Amino acid sequence: MKLMKSTIALLSLLGSAAGVSAAEEETLRFGKALADSNCAWCHGPSGQGYATAPKLAGQRSQYIESQLWSFKVHGRDNPFSQQYMWPAAVNLDAREALALAAYYSTLCPEPASDGDSRLAPAGEALYRGGNVAANIPSCVACHGPNAEGIRAIPRLAGQSYYYSRRKLAQWGEGYHAAAAVPMPGIASKLSDDEIEALASYLSFVK
Ligand code: HEC
Ligand code: HEC
Repeated sequence: MKLMKSTIALLSLLGSAAGVSAAEEETLRFGKALADSNCAWCHGPSGQGYATAPKLAGQRSQYIESQLWSFKVHGRDNPFSQQYMWPAAVNLDAREALALAAYYSTLCPEPASDGDSRLAPAGEALYRGGNVAANIPSCVACHGPNAEGIRAIPRLAGQSYYYSRRKLAQWGEGYHAAAAVPMPGIASKLSDDEIEALASYLSFVK
């Protein structure tokens, strides 16, 4: 009950035009403290990602929250999620997940730029136009013109090539089946070359 009230209070404050309110500031401070002690050693001190851990800086807050929940209930089931994120999310309550998501969404993302730049033009063409022959829709329709995401649809811009490539390939391997429609259907139709090109392109987008 207490939690519901504070969530509703935060949402109404976020909706007001008064800039950063005291309650919002408190949420961000709480989120940063949790992130610094529990998440930074894998995702990096400013959420830019590190090795196998993806970039969280600038990610959509609704998406971060939904993923934390999915790790907690074991819906997101690929090996790295099981190994790293199931333990990291097991004790999070809704207030903590909201604060972590709010905090990471305010950090400024730096593009990983770790893909193959020669493949980026092919990746961009696919991102914008899809592949009609293979019944693959354009990505731009949902993820936005600069892959910035919207509402619960994640930002892809600047994400590490290794992470995006692995994630897109894993849908075809049957993991992440619990993810929101339409990604399991779309990603499982992508060829290896298309995945390489898309993941390369996205790593450079600012
Ligand atoms: C031991 C290392 C480790 C720790 C600690 C850790 N993470 Fe992760 N996190 C990972 C890895 C690895 C992945 C990628 C999982 C995959 O490959 O699907 C990940 C994925 C995520 C994702 C999904 C991102 C996306 O784009 O889908 C979110 C959100 C996330 N972590 C948030 C957190 C938060 C918040 C904390 C702290 C409470 C945290 N993580 C702690 C390693 C870690
Ligand atoms: C109809 C809307 C829609 C279209 C079209 C779409 N996506 Fe998505 N995408 C989503 C949603 C919703 C999610 C979140 C899925 C979840 O719940 O995990 C997502 C998630 C993703 C993720 C995971 C991001 C992360 O941080 O783990 C990647 C990568 C991705 N999409 C790439 C693509 C690519 C590449 C295309 C084009 C070939 C595409 N998407 C087309 C809606 C869409």
